[in-house]
Amino acid sequence: MKGDIGVIGLAVMGQNLILNMNDHGFNVVAFNRTVSKVDDFLEGVAKGTNIIGASSLADLVSKLKMPRKVMLMVRAGDVVDAFIEQLLPLLDKGDIIIDGGNSNYPDTNRRVASLQEKGIYYVGTGVSGGEEGARFGPSIMPGGAPQAWPHVKPIFQAISAKTESGEACCDWVGKDGSGHFVKMVHNGIEYGDMQLISEAYHFMKEGLGLSHDEMQATFEEWKSTQLDSYLIDITTDILGYKDDDGEPLVEKILDTAGQKGTGKWTGINALDLGIPLTLITESVFARCLSSLKEQRVAAEKLFEKTIAPVQGEKKEWLEALKYALLASKIISYAQGFMLIREASEDNDWALNYGSVALMWRGGCIIRSAFLSNIRDAYANNPEIKFLGSDPYFKDILVESMPAWRKIVAKAIEIGLPMPTMTSALTFLDGYTTARLPANMIQAQRDYFGAHTYQRIDQPQGDFFHTNWTGTGGDTASTTYDA
Ligand code: 6PG
Repeated sequence: MKGDIGVIGLAVMGQNLILNMNDHGFNVVAFNRTVSKVDDFLEGVAKGTNIIGASSLADLVSKLKMPRKVMLMVRAGDVVDAFIEQLLPLLDKGDIIIDGGNSNYPDTNRRVASLQEKGIYYVGTGVSGGEEGARFGPSIMPGGAPQAWPHVKPIFQAISAKTESGEACCDWVGKDGSGHFVKMVHNGIEYGDMQLISEAYHFMKEGLGLSHDEMQATFEEWKSTQLDSYLIDITTDILGYKDDDGEPLVEKILDTAGQKGTGKWTGINALDLGIPLTLITESVFARCLSSLKEQRVAAEKLFEKTIAPVQGEKKEWLEALKYALLASKIISYAQGFMLIREASEDNDWALNYGSVALMWRGGCIIRSAFLSNIRDAYANNPEIKFLGSDPYFKDILVESMPAWRKIVAKAIEIGLPMPTMTSALTFLDGYTTARLPANMIQAQRDYFGAHTYQRIDQPQGDFFHTNWTGTGGDTASTTYDA
């Protein structure tokens, strides 16, 4: 009996995806560069399953049904290219290579195009949900050569997470590296959600002086609100987790956040595409700032920094905090979808934004009830440019506004850093301001560099230069936008 799919890479994500595929009745052939790991796997967790081992890439390929489907679950970067190189001589036209790692989407663009020329269909897919998701139902975001989709669809949709109404959290994203692009934005949103929750925890702990039990109880309550999400769930658990000495483990963890790069890529893409993705980018910078631990320790002493406790009824502050968190989260997703729209239009990907929201509804790290509302917003109006304009989200933003301002203002007053909640509010204030002070910037640019400006009393597209000092001359520089 030949295998339905081959999987290369037996780290935890690879192993769990294979076991998941096996559970759903697919015959999987497993291979790992260090071949002894294949035997360990077959003798260990895979014992008693239908999983077949391979002793080499040639062996793996020989054991697969046509068209062959080979999925790479290996470290992103050069390792992916190296495996593609080794696989190519073994494959035939019409065979499929799938990359399930966190690859940077320009790499996927390049691989899809170069393999297409050789008649091989390449798929770059985001797989989210960590170890447990991979084992029992991840969110899967495949893109690349569309010819591959009918062949991988039955496997991916069977093993993916399902929504409450049974829809698969996996659909075809689009051509080129669009699947990996969407996964990258997912990770950026993940960074934003994590930073927002951390800010709420910081406000509770340092501002309100809550105990861990009180904080845990608050997060527990938030589970039954619009904040209901996987990250709120795990935060509740984390707050209740005690170390061997009975103290909360979270307080013993060094406060420097790591990062593997997907959040940074999201920020870089936003800058490249000119999208004000302020919240996610702030969350990347917050991780960078956290890693300057020694400098922070010294600066706290130098500035004799203390955080003044927040006065007033704690219950009211917590209620306000909930609104501030929810409203900020809406802004983060709205900005993330602005970036996805811009990339889709720029690359001619024709992405379906509602379908992206559905793919994130279950299985992935940012899964939440709220994504159903995003999906509905796009179903009502696929052209919506800013999710905050959708009636459901607009009402929440308007309702949250006083509490949100109160929290952000208080944080600034007492010296508690809340970069994402603050930047989200500032973004909305900017987005809802018809006339911003950018006229002053244009005047300055024209003053010192003759960069020209447009006038509100003349047709747009006509550019003017003023000799502001009488000595600058009348020659304007050429007009272009980066
Ligand atoms: C997922 C996650 C995962 C990511 C980790 C680590 O969707 O399952 O996004 O793909 O690798 O969360 O990311 P950082 O190390 O950058 O925090």
